[in-house]
Amino acid sequence: MKKNVARLGVPPWSGDSIARELCAFADLYEKRPLRDNAGGMRAPHMFAVWFMARKLSPDLIVESGIWKGQSTWLLRNACPDARIVSIDLNLALREHIEPTVAYSDKDFSEHDWSEVTQKSLVFFDDHQNALKRLQQCKWFGFKHIIFEDNYPTTQGDCYSLKKAFAHAGFEPAFSKGKIKETATWGRLKERLAERMGITPITLTPQYDSVKVHPNEHDAKMVEKNVEVYCEFPPVIKTVKTRWGDDWDEAVYPTPDPVTTVEDISKDPRLEAFVKEATAYTWICYVRLK
Ligand SMILES: C[S@@+](CC[C@H](N)C(=O)[O-])C[C@H]1O[C@@H](n2cnc3c(N)ncnc32)[C@H](O)[C@@H]1O
Repeated sequence: MKKNVARLGVPPWSGDSIARELCAFADLYEKRPLRDNAGGMRAPHMFAVWFMARKLSPDLIVESGIWKGQSTWLLRNACPDARIVSIDLNLALREHIEPTVAYSDKDFSEHDWSEVTQKSLVFFDDHQNALKRLQQCKWFGFKHIIFEDNYPTTQGDCYSLKKAFAHAGFEPAFSKGKIKETATWGRLKERLAERMGITPITLTPQYDSVKVHPNEHDAKMVEKNVEVYCEFPPVIKTVKTRWGDDWDEAVYPTPDPVTTVEDISKDPRLEAFVKEATAYTWICYVRLK
């Protein structure tokens, strides 16, 4: 039976503790290096990642999906003592570079993660298939994972755990026949990768471009393998979603927001949460068994 799952198990923080941290986060957010982070995280998810990373206090953080670098700055500020490895297949997009972070342009799946501990954390914001990423984390021994792009069933450019729980599958633009994978194209890509000295995965279709048929087994396997699944709440909920339709519980089941538009509007320091409220996409925390 199809399910809306917003939470399984108990996350290592209480719902009440979230609201208490809003002002401390707002002070930091004011100091962010990039004022315009279009294409990257805004206040609701920046807050969520900062809050969860601080609570988890990891020794190692792996970030997959850097874009301009705002989230790398956030992770460094959330966990000043953690070792951070930040990955993007295109490092040339960075506008902010953190001096104490190790950068890589190799896909997460192509690294040697043999030093992972029980406290290490992976933050995925790379728009890849979340189920494949979860399987890779299990293989490498990562227990704590944050998925930024946890899109609801009818939205988004990748397969998410939220979609898996709803048995929704995923239909990417790629599978609608815009680009065809042929043997000649495959060989061409390999040669190109060799000539450019880059890893072939940079040129191969990524998991975000692979169709997933609606199915029940993905949800079952996620449930079997996770100890905790927890969608972090939006700070406030607006009438419309980022896609311009009604933010309706039937289409977009959502955890109760941290506060209300009326309450948050009383404090001018929290203005960004109002301005950027629709940037929420059901970000979630997962702890693997
Ligand atoms: C949404 S942006 C990341 C936003 C960033 N975390 C922020 O909040 O500012 C997604 C990024 O994922 C990168 N990307 C795509 N495929 C990737 C992969 N397989 N591994 C790592 N990064 C990837 C893209 O180049 C892009 O920079």
